[in-house]
Amino acid sequence: MAFQEVATSQALVEGQGIEVVWQGNIIALFRHSGAVYALDGLCMHQGGPLAKGKLAEGTIQCPWHGWKYDLKTGNNSATCQSMLKPYCVREQDGKIEIDFDA
Ligand code: FES
Repeated sequence: MAFQEVATSQALVEGQGIEVVWQGNIIALFRHSGAVYALDGLCMHQGGPLAKGKLAEGTIQCPWHGWKYDLKTGNNSATCQSMLKPYCVREQDGKIEIDFDA
């Protein structure tokens, strides 16, 4: 386990997402219904910024053309196809951390 801090808890507001960059990778963090999620940050359709999308019922909807992804798995919600990498994320001591080795 090698959790790395990627944001402060304060930076991630309920019902919203933020984008972080870690070693060249764009990652979207979300706080939805009290839980924190982390997925690849760019939509698989045309690269829309998922951190600016709409959260609803366990999914994130891309702000550009509306593709939806499951927050836990990164799967496309319409096809169940695996699309976005989900990261192992935790929140502890006011920090949001990802285990990039998981
Ligand atoms: S870029 Fe995300 S749906 Fe088109």
